[in-house]
Amino acid sequence: MSENVYNAEISRGYDATMDAGYNPNSYKVAVEAMLKILGSRKKVLELGIGTGLLAEQLVECGIDLSGTDFSASMLEKAAARLGDRVKLYQQDVLTLDLPEVYEAAVSHGGVWVAVRDGNFLDSHITGYERNLQGLTRVAQHLTPDGVLIINVGPEQKDLTLKLTRGEYSQRVFFKGDHYEKDYVVTEGGWVVALQHCVYGRFNEEETARMMEEAGFKASGRDEHFAVFEKGQDDETR
Ligand SMILES: C[S@@+](CC[C@H](N)C(=O)[O-])C[C@H]1O[C@@H](n2cnc3c(N)ncnc32)[C@H](O)[C@@H]1O
Repeated sequence: MSENVYNAEISRGYDATMDAGYNPNSYKVAVEAMLKILGSRKKVLELGIGTGLLAEQLVECGIDLSGTDFSASMLEKAAARLGDRVKLYQQDVLTLDLPEVYEAAVSHGGVWVAVRDGNFLDSHITGYERNLQGLTRVAQHLTPDGVLIINVGPEQKDLTLKLTRGEYSQRVFFKGDHYEKDYVVTEGGWVVALQHCVYGRFNEEETARMMEEAGFKASGRDEHFAVFEKGQDDETR
């Protein structure tokens, strides 16, 4: 199990932080770009569905969505938002084991994020082998012509955002093959949420090797998403 399971207090402040403009690309822009990539694919799995902000817009556009997340407090919010419109699973992607296969898997600020300024990959999971394990699990849950779509995330940097009530701030510490992030939410000068997370970061060569070993090949990248196709010769499921 990963060290980065969002706690209940961070989950409580999540939507307000997104509303305050954490990601310069709005969910609406992300959904429009994602629908173009999905084309006729409708059966989709979201990796790290969180509180369901992206999911809600995808289902409204006719996507048959399932989502996985290992944080009970994030999933609780997703369930309240989405009701029975989305199948939710409390699972770590490292041991992903779902009863269905999907035409696409998407990670939008989820388990994996593509880095804006280079073909790097950031991950909620640390370590090459563990990431390979997670990506292999994802490949096993895709149809032979399935795709993995990973959003190009905002730059990781120290940041403070004004929330409707209070303030969100993050401090980022780069340490070679990983970075650490302190999240703090304050209200009325009091700290109401606090978490320290460790993220993996993989360079271009490592990302290409990891994707290939997991059964994916890069098939395109634009300002919003990096796309990986499942290798046609994969017979994992
Ligand atoms: C930043 S949130 C993104 C939520 C949502 N996709 C969105 O766009 O708002 C990242 C989510 O990924 C989940 N996550 C991180 N690592 C995971 C893992 N190994 N397995 C399952 N979920 C994971 C976290 O619990 C968190 O809810």
